[in-house]
Amino acid sequence: MEVIIQPDAAAAARLTARLIADAVKAKPAFNLGLATGATMESVYAELAAMNKRGEVDFSRVSTFNLDEYIGLPPEDKNSYRYYMNFHLFDKINIDKQNTHLPDGMAADEVAEGARYEAAIKQAGGLDLQLLGIGSDGHIGFNEPLSSFASRTRAKPLTPATYRQNSIYFDPPETMPMRAFTMGVGTILDAKRIVMLITGAKKAGIAAKAIEGPLTSMVTGSAIQLHPSVVVILDEGAASQLTMREYYDWVFANEPKWKNYR
Ligand code: F6R
Repeated sequence: MEVIIQPDAAAAARLTARLIADAVKAKPAFNLGLATGATMESVYAELAAMNKRGEVDFSRVSTFNLDEYIGLPPEDKNSYRYYMNFHLFDKINIDKQNTHLPDGMAADEVAEGARYEAAIKQAGGLDLQLLGIGSDGHIGFNEPLSSFASRTRAKPLTPATYRQNSIYFDPPETMPMRAFTMGVGTILDAKRIVMLITGAKKAGIAAKAIEGPLTSMVTGSAIQLHPSVVVILDEGAASQLTMREYYDWVFANEPKWKNYR
């Protein structure tokens, strides 16, 4: 795992977007795993701006989102399909046919999980999965105690996640209590993982996921099992990390980071 600390959230989002854009440039028919949430909005704004400037081409890219609320149709303003169209897909030259999310309205939940897994597999697997982390340590909607071997399925959300996300719903009680999510196992199958964590509020959970013990109580800690992970943080989110000097040392000296410093 490599840990890169940027001065602020905007710089962290810019670096995240650049890593994604450079990966897409290197392999134009790219399978990109995407996340939603407040943290990702500036990443998508940056990718849209880069696309507009002709710096990255999404015409051959396929995307697979981590999760979708159960019971929300695509046109619902709180669905993750709506979020993705609004923040990214409507602003870049991607073919919407190649953008995938679990179907929140699927009648058969077990079949929907299997369908989504098969679609990722048929595409050739994910080249890169973008991750945020929830206040309870979740990645995707893999709430505490989700198995590290889990696959895409319906998952009941925790009260902590409900409190984190119901602020976007009006009234808050209309937020669904369940979601489809890629499993931890699905995420770990991606060839690369890029995680973005910003804000002092996330400092405690960031330290647990990056430096704490492997535990399904913090599903974000599962990234420690993956051979190719970069975690990008701002100063606030990095404030409880103990190996800071080492992280900065690697970023300052490893040749692979030369163009990103
Ligand atoms: C959503 C997702 C979640 C979020 C997490 C953080 O697709 O994958 O794991 O990344 O809930 O959300 P924000 O960025 O709103 O704090």
